[in-house]
Amino acid sequence: MTHGELASFHEFASRETLAEALADAIAAQLAQSIRARGSATLAVSGGSTPARLFDVLATRPIAWDRITVTLVDERFVPPTSERSNARLAARLLRGAAAEARFLPLWSDVASVEAAASAADAKVGALRLPFDVVVLGMGTDGHTASFFPDTDTLDELLDPTQPRRVMPVRTSAGGEPRLTLTLSTIVAARFIALHIEGDAKRAVLDAALEDPESALPVRRVFDAAPAPVHVYWAP
Ligand code: 6PG
Repeated sequence: MTHGELASFHEFASRETLAEALADAIAAQLAQSIRARGSATLAVSGGSTPARLFDVLATRPIAWDRITVTLVDERFVPPTSERSNARLAARLLRGAAAEARFLPLWSDVASVEAAASAADAKVGALRLPFDVVVLGMGTDGHTASFFPDTDTLDELLDPTQPRRVMPVRTSAGGEPRLTLTLSTIVAARFIALHIEGDAKRAVLDAALEDPESALPVRRVFDAAPAPVHVYWAP
């Protein structure tokens, strides 16, 4: 597939205008799903990039009480930790969006494996596929918690993987992780990859130009049935 068939690029002069446009696109898809099915599901990434998007998306006047929000991935830490993606997601669950139901991936159990099993059951009980998935990307080409050094990467990236949530043990990613699987992500009705800065853009361009790229982010584009929406600002 060509670059163009893999990705639909949305480029913006500023991170602020990107956040407004992506929030509009997410809200439109969620509202359409609610009209069609009475409810909607949204999975968002953590890290640092989404903070501005969450502040803007939280203001969008949609039926947040019909929406379940969860995470694309999570560090195996409690929500009180500075490292918690659930803690970051709280920036979204304010204002109009405070009415949304939040489904955490972390739970207070002994191992990341046990937490992943519990989260897999909870995510599996949602009406799938997800309506919206918003991915981030690291400069190492990881997305979600598909870190290149993970010894279970092939299972995480298996397009036929039946599990929705899996544990990840990685040194590159810091603490153990919980992540949606590739098969769950690429089934979503609307997939956005939100990246900012020239360094990440260069990494993505290289991944998209090389069909043999080993970067995990490339596997999302290969497995997605429609072009992935890339939202980028310098
Ligand atoms: C995480 C994220 C991860 C993130 C990238 C980019 O838990 O770290 O979900 O996949 O999207 O690491 O992170 P930044 O936005 O901080 O660059």
